[in-house]
Amino acid sequence: MSEAARSIPLTVNGTTVRVAPGTTIAAAVLLAGDATRVSVSGEPRGPLCGMGICFECRVTIDGVPHQRSCQIICSSGIRVMTDEVLKGSGGTGTP
Ligand code: FES
Repeated sequence: MSEAARSIPLTVNGTTVRVAPGTTIAAAVLLAGDATRVSVSGEPRGPLCGMGICFECRVTIDGVPHQRSCQIICSSGIRVMTDEVLKGSGGTGTP
């Protein structure tokens, strides 16, 4: 994808990512190089089904936890936080 096609800015764990219109938040998290959540045993997890069933893609979006990132299209200025950051900051992440 060319840089010019990446026109929507959002942040993933505080890092600005630019994506094309129509990109899911799950894809933006992967572009940022982050896992969406961390398992109980500490293993990184990512989107599995891509259709809203498995809940492996849960992230916190603008402070609202447990959002299925594969079902939400990116919009300008949203702030996405994943378990890696939430658990690292003393939060509980998304069980
Ligand atoms: S990837 Fe399965 S619910 Fe999002």
